[in-house]
Amino acid sequence: MIKKVISMMTVVLLAVFAGGVNADQTIAGGMSVADGDPNAGKSKSELCHGCHGVNGISVDPTTFPNLAGQFAGYIFKQVQDFQLGNRHDDTMSAMAATVTSLQDLKDIAVYFSKQKTMEGKPTGSAAAKTGDTIFHNGVPKAGVYGCINCHGKNGKGRGKGNSLFPVIGGQQKAYIVKQLKDFKAGTRKNDPAGMMGDIAKKLSDEQINAVAEYLSGL
Ligand code: HEC
Ligand code: HEC
Repeated sequence: MIKKVISMMTVVLLAVFAGGVNADQTIAGGMSVADGDPNAGKSKSELCHGCHGVNGISVDPTTFPNLAGQFAGYIFKQVQDFQLGNRHDDTMSAMAATVTSLQDLKDIAVYFSKQKTMEGKPTGSAAAKTGDTIFHNGVPKAGVYGCINCHGKNGKGRGKGNSLFPVIGGQQKAYIVKQLKDFKAGTRKNDPAGMMGDIAKKLSDEQINAVAEYLSGL
């Protein structure tokens, strides 16, 4: 017990030294757009451009997500979650650790949020049609609520004042599939109140593929 508390304290202290953050600040919307300077954020995010693109459009759709037009408060939360170990990815956790000041993180988050919002091309495939139904109506028999209720029209979120629900329309398909599978397996569990885990656990791999195909085309 004491050992556990001490190791938790070490994690928090390391995080404080690394980025000046604590677990309470990982709430989406923990910053507002006015807190960051997009011009400063452009140069401060040079390292990020290598994978996420200078305009926030991934340089490799099979591996990296888009950040373009994502809510600043959401980017802010995710990077802090990687720093704190609330979310883990070998590559991205190492990158998050390089952002050593909270102001740098705010500037970077605002920079990406102000890029032209990610947008995909619809494939019109049979899978995308199934995905369209799941997005709008959910899977009532399995108790899955339609994604649109939280992620908004076309998956573009619920407006700038609400960064709890991320932009997912126009995101890379491979990334959406990976996140849904991570939520399903419980290897990603930084979602508030387990909202996404509950949903992903009720989706089959086929349904995950279908909804990801639809979303990536929006
Ligand atoms: C070497 C490649 C690489 C670099 C450089 C990189 N990232 Fe990432 N990033 C990734 C990968 C891979 C993921 C997806 C992780 C996963 O699958 O959970 C990711 C995910 C993210 C996410 C989560 C997106 C979402 O929609 O939840 C954010 C935010 C992010 N990166 C921000 C940054 C920032 C800010 C920088 C610069 C400081 C940066 N990244 C640099 C590879 C990189
Ligand atoms: C009850 C509200 C709710 C519903 C319904 C919902 N989501 Fe989410 N979703 C969230 C929240 C909240 C997050 C952000 C988790 C976090 O902060 O890390 C999220 C995150 C995600 C992410 C990760 C995005 C990223 O960039 O990291 C994906 C992908 C996603 N949802 C897909 C879906 C799909 C597909 C559906 C429908 C089958 C759906 N969601 C339904 C609340 C919801």
